[in-house]
Amino acid sequence: MIPIKNKEGIAGMREACRVAAAVLAKMRSLAVPGISTYDLDQEAKKLIEALGARSACFNYRTSRGQRAYPAYTCISMNEEVVHGIGTIKRILRPGDIVSLDVVVEYGGWIGDNATTVRIGPVPPAVERLLQVSEAALYHGIGFAKVGNRIGDISHAIQSFVEAEGFSVVRDMVGHGVGRSMHEEPQIPNFGRKGTGDKIRPGMTLAIEPMVNTGTHRIETLGDGWTVVTADGKPSAHFEHTVLTTETGPEILTIPAA
Ligand code: MF3
Ligand code: CO
Repeated sequence: MIPIKNKEGIAGMREACRVAAAVLAKMRSLAVPGISTYDLDQEAKKLIEALGARSACFNYRTSRGQRAYPAYTCISMNEEVVHGIGTIKRILRPGDIVSLDVVVEYGGWIGDNATTVRIGPVPPAVERLLQVSEAALYHGIGFAKVGNRIGDISHAIQSFVEAEGFSVVRDMVGHGVGRSMHEEPQIPNFGRKGTGDKIRPGMTLAIEPMVNTGTHRIETLGDGWTVVTADGKPSAHFEHTVLTTETGPEILTIPAA
C-alpha cells in the first residue's frame, strides 16, 4: 500500500522538504575548490541541527548486517554514483563533479533531495551529462500526474536519458518518502509505460535519476556504502521530493518563497 498523506501529513512533508532544500542550498554554496568533503558534511550537520532537524542518513542501514552509515549527508564525486562518505582526504578540485544528497527528518517527516554540482568548469562531455541528468529529473516529474502509473515516470526518465546516449542505474531506485525514508512505491529510473501502481493525490515521491556516462553497471566499495560506476566513468544524480495533486506534481524541495 502506498501511503497517502492527509492535510497534516502534507504540511509536515512541506516543512521537512523546506529544511532539506535549505541544507542542500547551503552545501551547494560551500562546494568550491579547496574544501574537503568531510568539511562539507560537517557544515551540513551543523545547519541541520541549527534548524531543529536530524540527519536521516546518519546511522542508517537497510539491513541488520549492513554497516551503519557514518556521515550526515552523502557526497559522491565523479565516478561515485551515490552514498559517498565525506573524508578529510578528499578535497574538491576544479573539474570535479560532486553529488550532494540530503535527507532530513523534521517534525516526524522526511524530506529528500540531491543535486550534482560542478567545481569550476568541467569537460564538455561531463557538462552534457549534468544537463541531461537534471533535465531527466524534471522530465520524469512531469509524468507524476494523477491517473498515470509509476512506470510512466520510469519510462520517461529512461527514454530521455538513453536518447542522449547515457545510461540509467538499474540497481538503485527512487522511492516513496514520508514518515520513513523509504516507503512504497519503488520508482525505478527504467521501465515500461502503463505499468506499476496508479498515481493518486497525496503521494510523496522521491524521484532520483542516477545517470552514468558509460555502463549502467555499478559496484560498492569496501566501505560498504560508496557506490561507483563499474567502468570508472562519471555519474550524476538529481533528486526532488514531489507531492502528487489533482492539479499536477508539486516539487516540495523547491519551497515557495
Ligand atoms: N537519497 C538517498 C536514498 O534515498 C539517501 C540515502 S541516505 C543513506 O537512498 F543513509 F543511505 F546514506
Ligand atoms: Co532518495
